[in-house]
Amino acid sequence: MSMIEVAGLRKEFGRATAVAGISFAVSEGEVFGLLGPNGAGKTTTVRMLTGLLQPTSGSATVAGCDVRRQRQRMLSSIGVVFELPALYPRLSVEENLRLSGSLRGLSRGDVLAAMERLGLTEQRRRPVRSLSKGWRQRTMIARAMLGQPKVLFLDEPTSGLDPNATAFLHDLLRSLRDEGVTIFLTTHDMVEAAELCDRVGILSRGELVALDAPAALVERLQGRSIRLTWWEAGSLREASIPLADPSTPAFLEEVLAQRRILQIETTGTLDDVYRNVTGGQEARA
Ligand SMILES: Nc1ncnc2c1ncn2[C@@H]1O[C@H](COP(=O)(O)OP(=O)(O)O)[C@@H](O)[C@H]1O
Ligand SMILES: [Mg+2]
Repeated sequence: MSMIEVAGLRKEFGRATAVAGISFAVSEGEVFGLLGPNGAGKTTTVRMLTGLLQPTSGSATVAGCDVRRQRQRMLSSIGVVFELPALYPRLSVEENLRLSGSLRGLSRGDVLAAMERLGLTEQRRRPVRSLSKGWRQRTMIARAMLGQPKVLFLDEPTSGLDPNATAFLHDLLRSLRDEGVTIFLTTHDMVEAAELCDRVGILSRGELVALDAPAALVERLQGRSIRLTWWEAGSLREASIPLADPSTPAFLEEVLAQRRILQIETTGTLDDVYRNVTGGQEARA
């Protein structure tokens, strides 16, 4: 079953096209990553899918609700974590969560459970403004998870986080996925996307230029190969050798055995695909 269905979704700001009519679907329990350079249209897409921005044209359903016509019902099935903190800085972690919870008719037990899950219990009395970025983000995620959403949207959730905070978030997202929550995130980090996402879409200037499982994109668009630098007859040689080539294993064995390799590097990562399909595009404003 599709939890997110997008058909010809488009957004224009004046004469500028931010999202140029994109179509895709995300299944229940899938982790979907929307990738692309700055200004590609990722945030605009998330804002349209979460009812914060009216599409210029096209349609989208999230958790079975039309984002234009059934916005209120849709909002009760989703959680959203945006890049900019949207918390009351003087209020404590718990006060922020209880305020959001009460607006949504949730009990104190729901708030306690969300804090527990995010490891926030010990920090719950601290004002949000005294927290580091990682802990503020945990508070935002706890808030997004309060109503036990079916779909969780996260816009660049790991940008600016340290490696421990990133690892915590990845583990959390995986366990939510295992519980059947559908996760839609945006990221610049290709390693993260390749590790975490079941499928990715790559946006470039508002167009969806690639859409598949990370490994399938690498396979189809790039093909894995090994970049090798080795000594031969007194001079340095360099070549990109396709892994699929039948003669590759024997060749590698030979240069390895003779200890002639200077440098060895695999290419054909999601990063290569990304640079390929976005054409090394400069960021837009
Ligand atoms: N409210 C807005 N008004 C005018 N232009 C906007 C607005 N929001 C975004 N844009 C433009 O739309 C394009 C896509 O922006 P955005 O969706 O934020 O990209 P991303 O999140 O991929 O970095 C950019 O060129 C941006 O300047
Ligand atoms: Mg953005």
